[in-house]
Amino acid sequence: MSSSLCYESKTPMEECIMSGGNDQLSYTKNSTYQGRVIEVTRPLINEAISEKFLAECLLSGRTICIADLGCSIGPNTFISMQNIIDSITSMYKSIHGQNKTTPFTFQVFFSDHPSNDFNTLFKSLPQDRQYHASGVPGSFYGRLFPPASLHFVHSSFALHWLSKLPEELMDKNSLAWNKGRIDYTNAREEVAEAYASQRRKDLDCFLLARAEELVPQGLMMIVVPARPNGVSHSHILFNILNDILGSCLMEMAKRGIVREESVNSCNLPMYVASIEEIEEAIKRNGSFSIEKMQILPSVSTTDAGLSPQGTSSGIRAIMEGIIKEHFGFEILDELFELYTKKLEENYHNIVSAKVCNLVLMLKRNS
Ligand SMILES: C[S@@+](CC[C@H](N)C(=O)[O-])C[C@H]1O[C@@H](n2cnc3c(N)ncnc32)[C@H](O)[C@@H]1O
Repeated sequence: MSSSLCYESKTPMEECIMSGGNDQLSYTKNSTYQGRVIEVTRPLINEAISEKFLAECLLSGRTICIADLGCSIGPNTFISMQNIIDSITSMYKSIHGQNKTTPFTFQVFFSDHPSNDFNTLFKSLPQDRQYHASGVPGSFYGRLFPPASLHFVHSSFALHWLSKLPEELMDKNSLAWNKGRIDYTNAREEVAEAYASQRRKDLDCFLLARAEELVPQGLMMIVVPARPNGVSHSHILFNILNDILGSCLMEMAKRGIVREESVNSCNLPMYVASIEEIEEAIKRNGSFSIEKMQILPSVSTTDAGLSPQGTSSGIRAIMEGIIKEHFGFEILDELFELYTKKLEENYHNIVSAKVCNLVLMLKRNS
C-alpha cells in the first residue's frame, strides 16, 4: 500500500483534544481509569523486552528512541514511558549483571495533535527522568518520524479516535444519516458500517506509517478499547457511555436548549473496533508479527474508584473539546449535570457492561 493513500500529518480532528491544564476538570485530574489500565500492562512490557531486542538496539547505536502516540498531557504518558525504560534497564542488568550501568541513552518523543496542551505536559515532566524529552505534533495517521528511527512505539487509549468522520453520517439522503444520535451504538446498521469503514482506512494508515518508522525487530504496544467478536456494540461500556451522552443532548434539544439540527450533525469521531477487525488490519499490512494479543483483566469504573460523578468528569475531560466546538461552551455545565444524573439512574447497567481493553504487542518484521 502506498503511503500517499494516507492522510498527511495534519489534524482534521483537532477539536478532539483532551481538557488541558491541571484544574479539577482537566484530563490530568480525570484520567484515573486509563492510568489503572496502564498499570496492568507493565508485566507485558517486561515480557516483550528480549535479549534480541536489546541486541538490535545496540546495533542501531546506543540511543533508544521511544514514542508515545496520543500522549495527551500526563501523568499516564510519564508512567508508560518510565515502565518501558525500566523494563529495558532491568533486562540489560539481568543479562550483564546488576551492577552494570546500561550503555543506552533514552530519547522519548511525546506526540499528539498540535493543539494538545504540550505546555502542561512539558511543565510536568518528571524531574528525575532518565531520558531526553521532545514533543512531536501531528496526527498518527500520517508519518511523524524518519524511516527506521524508532525502537519502541507506545499508544494507549488513542487509536479508537478516527482521523475524520464518515461523510455519509451528515448526508440526509444517505441511509447512514445519523439523525438524533451522536454515535453508532444503537443506530441503524448503515451508521455502524460507515464508522467501521473509516476505522479500516485509518488503521491501514496508522500501521503503514509505523511500519516505516520502526527499526526491524522494533516493538509497538497498543492499548485500545475493543469489542470481543460476536458482542454487539450496545453491550460495550465505552459505547453505552457515549450513547447516554447523546440521549442527554437530545433531551436538551427537546427542552429547546440546543437545536435538534445540531444534534443531528454532531457525531463522535471514535469507533471501538472488534478484535477481528484489528487482527485483519494487521494481516492486511503484513509488516508486523503479533507477539501478544490479550484482553486485559477488566478494570471496571468501580475498580478504578469512579462514581457516576467521577465517570462523568472523566468523560467530560475527553469530550469537552468536541461538545464546545459544536454547541458552544455555555451548555457544558448543564449537559454534564444531566449526564451525571443519567449515569446514576443507569449505574447498574454501566457496572455490568462489557469492558474490554485490548493490548497488542507487535514486532516489526526484519
Ligand atoms: C484519551 S487520551 C489518552 C492519553 C494517554 N495516552 C492516556 O492513556 O492517558 C487520547 C489522546 O489521543 C490523541 N489523539 C487522538 N487522535 C489522534 C491522532 N490522530 N493523532 C495524534 N493524537 C491523537 C488525543 O488528542 C488525546 O490526547
